[in-house]
Formats: sequence, C-alpha cells, structure tokens
Amino acid sequence: MKTAIIMGSDSDWGVMKSAVDTLKKFDIEVEITVASAHRTPQKVHDFVTKSDAQVFIAAAGMAAHLAGVVASFTTRPVIGVPINSESFKGLDSLLSTVQMPGGIPVATMAVNGAKNAALFAAEILALQDNNIAEKLTAYREQMAAEIDAKDKALNESIL
Ligand code: RP5
Repeated sequence: MKTAIIMGSDSDWGVMKSAVDTLKKFDIEVEITVASAHRTPQKVHDFVTKSDAQVFIAAAGMAAHLAGVVASFTTRPVIGVPINSESFKGLDSLLSTVQMPGGIPVATMAVNGAKNAALFAAEILALQDNNIAEKLTAYREQMAAEIDAKDKALNESIL
C-alpha cells in the first residue's frame, strides 16, 4: 500500500514531516515530491498520472489550490493539508483547499493537519489491508491508555 505526498514547496516540509513519520508507523510506503500547481503544473500532472499510490496527500499554503488540481487528475482519494500562512494564518490555505466546487472532492484536514492526513490515508488503505487495520486499532488503544495514564498522574499530583 502506498501514499503519495505532494508539497507545493520545500518550505512545507517542516509541517509535512509528521505525515511521513506517521505513515511509516503503519508500514505504508511513501512517495514524496515537491510540485506546485502554479509554478510547475506539468510536474503535478505527470507525477499524479504516473504514480501508483492508492491515496494522495496534497499540502500547500496560501491560495495555491494544489489539492484541487491533484484531484482533477485522478479519481483516487485526495487529502488536502492547508499550510499555515503569514498573512491570513492559514485561512487562505484552508479556503482554497476545502471550498471545492461540486464534482471534484478534496478531503480537507485542519490547518497544518499533517498527522491526521496520514491517519486518514491509513484508514482508507485499511479497507483493503488487515495489517493496517489492526495497527489502527492498536494505535487508538495506545492513545486511550496514554490519556488514562495522564489522567491518573494529574489526579495523583493534585489530590
Ligand atoms: C505554496 O506557497 C507552497 O505550498 C507554500 O506553502 C507557499 C510558499 O511557498 P515558498 O515561497 O515558501 O516556496 O505554493
């Protein structure tokens, strides 16, 4: 199972690294490229149409509209990650990713939501891969155990 990550700029890497780290935890193969909808549109087209990934994650900041462009070239699921921006604190990125007109969907995560993008990709891939499905269940159980441990520690420290 493979997920492809497309970033509009190498400046998005600081946010998107956690998507790669998370996908690796689920033993999901990752293919990654820097390709921009407005600076290198042909590269975006060629990458998407040649990739054999089952899911795409597209991350871009400002009004770049990368995820929508990626989605226009494939019927495989596209997860958008709006990257925080200086002028509008990511609102521009969020709207340019989430507000897709009907016909070409993009599953949009929170601003800088790289980790959830990877988890959502894992959930899609788990539909066809029991190993990933089992890892997702274990991940949730571990998360719940960590919360319980923090709850206990907090109560013990204040009572
Ligand atoms: C977007 O413009 C990129 O995805 C990035 O988030 C933003 C700024 O790009 P750089 O100027 O840092 O290359 O296309």
